[in-house]
Amino acid sequence: MNNFQFQNPVKILFGEGKIAEIAHEIAAGSKVMMTYGGGSIKRNGIYDQVIAALSQCQVIEFGGIEANPDYDTLMRAISLGKSEEIDFILAVGGGSIIDGTKFIAAGINYDGDPWDFITGKAKVPTALPFGVVLTLPATGSEMNNGAVISRRATKEKYPFHNDNGFPTFSVLDPTAVYSLPHRQVANGLIDTFIHTTEQYLTTAGSPKVMDRFAEGVLRTLIEIAPRLTAEGDRKYADCADFMMAATMGLNGFLAMGVDEDWATHMIGHELTALHGLDHGVTLAIVWEGTMHIMRREKEAKLLQYAKEVWGITEGSADEIIDKAIDSTEHFFQSLGVKTRLSDYGIGEDTIATIRSRFEMRKWNLGEHGIVTPDKVEAILRCRL
Ligand code: NZQ
Ligand code: ZN
Repeated sequence: MNNFQFQNPVKILFGEGKIAEIAHEIAAGSKVMMTYGGGSIKRNGIYDQVIAALSQCQVIEFGGIEANPDYDTLMRAISLGKSEEIDFILAVGGGSIIDGTKFIAAGINYDGDPWDFITGKAKVPTALPFGVVLTLPATGSEMNNGAVISRRATKEKYPFHNDNGFPTFSVLDPTAVYSLPHRQVANGLIDTFIHTTEQYLTTAGSPKVMDRFAEGVLRTLIEIAPRLTAEGDRKYADCADFMMAATMGLNGFLAMGVDEDWATHMIGHELTALHGLDHGVTLAIVWEGTMHIMRREKEAKLLQYAKEVWGITEGSADEIIDKAIDSTEHFFQSLGVKTRLSDYGIGEDTIATIRSRFEMRKWNLGEHGIVTPDKVEAILRCRL
């Protein structure tokens, strides 16, 4: 078990009807910028609930933040927020809105170009406080201090973290899941699944309590996925389990005392940056390659995963690992997601581009930097 430090200040308001409680979390009279996406919140009633809860505040709206939030859009929000001298931001949406809001909150108090935070040229000095109404369980952004920002003009996409990046509160109302399209439920299930494996399928000797939590999250996702993706109305209990799993999957909790990987994510971000694929889809493509190529380094944990998550114990170590990888890929495919690069018309050129980008950035990924650019190429090659 590694030494660790853990602190998470986010207040969670969980359950149906909790949006109304925002009224107690934001001081009356505040000037609030409400950030949201392309309009789903206007169709499912969440917008009306938020506006009612903010009746004692002055609301400035900034809608139209796209999936994989773009630097140019966020810069327009920063400029509006500065000119309106807002006091607080309320993000109403999925990971893209929350991440975009973290960038806006940091950029509003900064005179330079906030892209500096992403390149590491500057640290976030202070940020405007912000809260969240989560509408899509997936990223865990509602309870962590990370954000992933895209720049379409240069086909780039990078994560950044900062001490001021935690929301002050997050409303998790599972009824938001009722209106999610099948595609976004699949994305959210896969994203949560792979956040968990990034913190679980690494090295032997991690804390047993964290192993059991991680296995619990994975087994929950496998159990609820068929019901959440079936035709017909979704049940509140399944939506609530989905939301809790997603938040617990990436709020820092599963990372306590463990080695972390994140290679699948960093490779996946390149596929989104270069080809616009949904984040969850990129993970479903890359994951099998990472596990296949890194199977020796991850052997002990892959065997544990096979037994504890899929009940696979028969055969040689390699046979067991193959069966566990296949079961996982079938799980992703059962959600309607295609898992090969060729399914998306992506080939050798992209593999070469990603390899050379990682070489230029001197990136060695994975636990202890074991995923070198050579390995990245091999991972992608077996996904053609
Ligand atoms: O824009 P609207 O109209 O609102 O529609 C959205 C959007 O098109 C729709 N949607 C959201 N809630 C809905 C809904 N539709 C109907 N009913 C609802 N209740 O879903 C679409 C996708 O939304 P988005 O916010 O992009 O999805 P997600 O939550 O998957 O976020 C993806 C982004 O988060 C980053 C990803 O890289 C990507 O940029 N991530 C952030 C992380 C973090 N901050 O810790 C970690 C993750 O690994 C991830 O990288
Ligand atoms: Zn993710």
